[in-house]
Amino acid sequence: EKGTYPHYMLKEIDEQPAVVRRIIQNYQDENDELTIEQDVLEALKQADRLYIIAAGTSYHAGLIGKEYIEKMAQIPVEVHIASEFGYNMPLLSEKPLFIFISQSGETADSRQVLVKVKELGHPALTITNVAGSTLSREADYTLLLHAGPEIAVASTKAYTAQLAVMAILSSVTAKAKGIDIGFDLEQELSIAANAIQTQVDDKENMEDIAREYLAVTRNCFFIGRNVDYYVGLEGALKLKEISYIQAEGFAGGELKHGTIALIEEGTPVIALATQEAVNLNIRGNVKEVAARGAYPCIISMEGLAEEGDRLVLPRVHELLTPIVSVIPLQLISYYAALHRDCDVDKPRNLAKSVTVE
Ligand code: M6R
Repeated sequence: EKGTYPHYMLKEIDEQPAVVRRIIQNYQDENDELTIEQDVLEALKQADRLYIIAAGTSYHAGLIGKEYIEKMAQIPVEVHIASEFGYNMPLLSEKPLFIFISQSGETADSRQVLVKVKELGHPALTITNVAGSTLSREADYTLLLHAGPEIAVASTKAYTAQLAVMAILSSVTAKAKGIDIGFDLEQELSIAANAIQTQVDDKENMEDIAREYLAVTRNCFFIGRNVDYYVGLEGALKLKEISYIQAEGFAGGELKHGTIALIEEGTPVIALATQEAVNLNIRGNVKEVAARGAYPCIISMEGLAEEGDRLVLPRVHELLTPIVSVIPLQLISYYAALHRDCDVDKPRNLAKSVTVE
């Protein structure tokens, strides 16, 4: 039930701090240490390469999952769009493990890959919100998102849940392999949950941003580098699917290779600047687009902020910034859609789970 909320999407955005906390609890052992089931852990340790298969928002989560797994657990990862994988299968490693990320567990594009993978005799793990879903039943292993039912077509809390679960999977695997990741993930996830809360409590500001940048525009660009680029892809998907504003996410450095030609007087460019190593570069990209008339909206993080940034997120561990920086993008999209009288929870032409190929 959506209770007093006007839309499921807003309710589900608001639930995200609680979802992250619930995930921590569900993945704790009796000593309050983060853990995953032993058989899943063994499968991860035995694999020489992981293949993440997903669609839409879950694919965007997979891109960040790759960062987590490679940085923490030090296992090479490839991320593939499910609908492409069937006929464009890469050369597989000797001991692959397939990871299917799917909120619903019913996405047909992902399922056809799972069927093929099982035919080939490879092990598969499904990360899903729905226990007993097709992808969960047909895979060898399942990790649950514990996000609670997601009703709005636009995925929000499932994305943050997918990131949190993949971070946990990565840190637990690292520990089992004797790798010191150098920080306490459980503590950093709790800090991130608090930071998400500050963002969902800042709705008036998000609504102002939507009004200021997106009220009349016909397009919008999201730029970022490193994980900020992947969050930008998700921000663009969210905006286009519910507000019908044409939106694209780009790697900051790639703009000058073509897309910058689209920048006109007043074009909104939402820039994420949460990564210290590339902070100067992304700010350079903002200057390049601003010089061509763009109207930049910089979302940065405490410690990296500069005067004029439109939104400054509380500081969280650098790997976990996507869990926090996606929240303003979800809210800005929500308000942009609302201001345009769009059907937020049921955008045109879309279904909650895509059960056709
Ligand atoms: O249920 P799944 O996670 O497999 O769904 C995948 C996509 O269809 C889904 O994420 C879609 O892109 C959302 N509408 C995005 O908000």
